[in-house]
Amino acid sequence: MATAPRPLVAGNWKMNGLSASAGELEAIIAGAAGIAAEADLMVCPPATLLARFAAIARGAPVLIGAQDCHAEPAGAFTGDISAEMIADCGGQAVIVGHSERRFYHQEDDPAVKAKAMAAMRAGLIAILCIGETKQERDAGATLVRLEKQLQGSLPERLDAASLVIAYEPVWAIGTGVTPGPADVEEVHAFIRQFLTARDPSGGPGIRILYGGSVKPSNARDLLAVRNVNGALVGGASLKAADFLGIAAAYA
Ligand code: PGA
Repeated sequence: MATAPRPLVAGNWKMNGLSASAGELEAIIAGAAGIAAEADLMVCPPATLLARFAAIARGAPVLIGAQDCHAEPAGAFTGDISAEMIADCGGQAVIVGHSERRFYHQEDDPAVKAKAMAAMRAGLIAILCIGETKQERDAGATLVRLEKQLQGSLPERLDAASLVIAYEPVWAIGTGVTPGPADVEEVHAFIRQFLTARDPSGGPGIRILYGGSVKPSNARDLLAVRNVNGALVGGASLKAADFLGIAAAYA
């Protein structure tokens, strides 16, 4: 059997963080030493802090990522940033297709796919998010929904070094509610199967993160689930102690 992919714990700061928040990153870097042997750590601050955070984290075992990118490398797209710009200011990754982007900015699967391919074009790791709504789960349509998202938004080439999938049930984000371990296991097994069927060589090594209300108190149980190769953490990533407390599941 292939060895399990190296875990990744990524923090999505969303629209939070000012210059003064650099102290949290410094605290994360200080605490990263005990974890770096076992797992990758990543912080995704707002775009305004990207260059500053990338400079602070240079040489440290903490990757820096962005939260979104435009599909084009440059052009007349006011307010957007490209994957090439993220790479240019020292970012190593970008989240694409987060449910908040899909919902508030009407991003559909083809748009998300274009962004994932842009990320890979620019040499970034794409963290591609998928997840069902509460209504879809209640209707028993979770796997149907996820399959549709995977079919529509996965890039053409599956490369474990540059693609990460994040399973984030929309109803678990910011709510304090999480699926049970059996539900997480079922979904992650389904995603793994889909990736492996699509690409028998690249699929097995792609990291599949769980996201949605991950905290220090539930991280150990969630991260122990088969085919869970790390976490995408929102609220609990804003405080270094909580973020490190989650990542400590791998220490
Ligand atoms: P949460 O957010 O950890 O605050 O639930 C997760 C996410 O949206 O990535």
